[in-house]
This record gives sequence, C-alpha cells and structure tokens, in this order.
Amino acid sequence: MRKNIIITGASSGLGEGMAKAFAKRGRNLGLCARRLDRLEVLKADLLQINPDIIVHTQALDVNNHDAVFRVFNQFRKDFGVVDRVFVNAGIGKGGAIGAGHFKENKETFLTNAVSALAQCEAAVEIFRAQNHGHLVTISSVGAVRGFPGLMNVYAASKAALSSLSEGLQIELLHTPIQVSTIHPGFIRTPMNEEAKSLPFAVNIETGCNAIVNAIEKEIKNAYVPFWPWALLHYLLRIAPLNILRKLS
Ligand SMILES: NC(=O)c1ccc[n+]([C@@H]2O[C@H](COP(=O)([O-])OP(=O)(O)OC[C@H]3O[C@@H](n4cnc5c(N)ncnc54)[C@H](OP(=O)(O)O)[C@@H]3O)[C@@H](O)[C@H]2O)c1
Repeated sequence: MRKNIIITGASSGLGEGMAKAFAKRGRNLGLCARRLDRLEVLKADLLQINPDIIVHTQALDVNNHDAVFRVFNQFRKDFGVVDRVFVNAGIGKGGAIGAGHFKENKETFLTNAVSALAQCEAAVEIFRAQNHGHLVTISSVGAVRGFPGLMNVYAASKAALSSLSEGLQIELLHTPIQVSTIHPGFIRTPMNEEAKSLPFAVNIETGCNAIVNAIEKEIKNAYVPFWPWALLHYLLRIAPLNILRKLS
C-alpha cells in the first residue's frame, strides 16, 4: 500500500479533494502549496475525517525550484519513506498568443511544465534512492492536441508534462518505480469557475474519486472520468483543425 503521499497544490480543488479521498483510505499526507493557511484548515479537516493518519504541511511555491527539492526532502525526513508523489500544482492563466498575454502565458508554462519538471526531478531522486515509489503527474485531456486562444499555452504545457511522464515510464519500466499520467477532463474547481462552457463537467468529489481509483490501480495513462474522456480523447486526436476550432 502507498502509505505516505506528497501532494503539491493541495490547498484547493483536485489536490484538496484527493487529500480528503486518501485520508478516508488511511494514508499519511505531506501537503504543500503557497497558501499555508488553507493547508492548516485542510489538515484539521483531514484529522477529523481520520484521526489515525499523519498530516504534514509545508508552504511551497513550485516556481522556486530549490524549495521544491528542500520541501520534498523534508517530507521524506518526516515520513522516513515517500511512497507516492503527486505533481498536481498548476494554473490556467493566459490568452491568445501575440495579444498581450506573454506574462500570464509564461507563468502558466513555467508552473505547469518547468516547475513540474522540478517536482519530477525531486520525486524521482527520492524514489531512486529508496528503489521504490509511485510518481503521479496531473496532466489534462487538453494535452492530446493543440488548442487556440486561452487554452493554447495551457494545452502545450500539459503536452510537455505528458511527454515527460511518458519518457519516465519508459525509462523506469521493469523497475520498482511506477509512473502514472492522469488526464482529467473538466472538473469544476476554482481554476475554471469563470469558464462559460465546460462540457461533461463533474463536481470535485466525482472527479477526485475517478482520479483516485485510477491511481490506486497504478494505471499508466488514465483519462478521467472514464465516461466520456476515455473515448473522447481518441476522437480529439484525429479531429481536423476546423472541428477543434469549433470546440474551443
Ligand atoms: N479542474 C479541471 O477541470 C482540470 C482538468 C485537467 C487538469 N487539471 C489540473 O489539475 C491540477 C489542479 O487544478 P485544480 O483544478 O484543482 O485548480 P485549483 O483549484 O486552482 O488548484 C490549483 C492548486 O495549485 C496550486 N498552485 C498554483 N500555482 C502554484 C505555485 N506556483 N506553487 C505552488 N502551488 C501552486 C494552488 O495553491 P496555492 O495557490 O495555494 O499555491 C492550488 O492548490 C492542475 O495541474 C490543473 O491543470 C484540472
């Protein structure tokens, strides 16, 4: 059983939802995000859900890459062994390229791709030393194709993360280190609360249950919730550009 779990971006949305789902399953949690106050409230909730677990919290801006290594190693000291790490922290800021959004687009690419690399590096370093562990990257169904407008850089950043994850899956095949890439469809969280249209969107609990079930099976690539995304991602891969434009 993967007992000691680190989750980045645990102060909100899917990170918070997964922490609650794992607390119910009796797992110890190392939670980090920039908003430590929210993590402390969550910690109290988790210990109410399950008083038998251990919860550690750390303030972390994943764009401070030295801090990513420091915080993950602190969790390892706290727990002794780290069994699973979620690369979950992410943002969806930005807009059409060439339309004055470079600052936000750069922040999105930095957080979702470069800082995800820092998290993968720090996690896999610990797993190699332990010869044991499960890396889970939270990508997106959006990773499967390019998308225009405000989805452009977000989708590109998630494509980078999925590719990184797949490379690690190949490299670590037949070792005691497992790598799973999760591609969620739309799940209603603070990230997308202003979106006008979210086709097939589900609430956080439904979305997190689908994610946690896939992770516990240690599936290499999961598109969740299964309906409709396990099918739709195939269609998205072959859709002509004019169809993708209409969908966006
Ligand atoms: N919701 C969806 O439909 C959906 C679909 C596909 C993929 N995803 C992915 O799921 C992940 C979680 O998103 P969400 O929907 O749960 O959004 P959310 O509610 O906005 O949560 C994002 C989390 O990331 C953290 N975060 C953002 N920037 C950070 C930074 N620089 N350093 C540390 N933590 C940072 C935030 O914490 P602080 O602000 O406290 O730092 C927050 O806990 C993201 O990677 C997102 O791309 C979401």
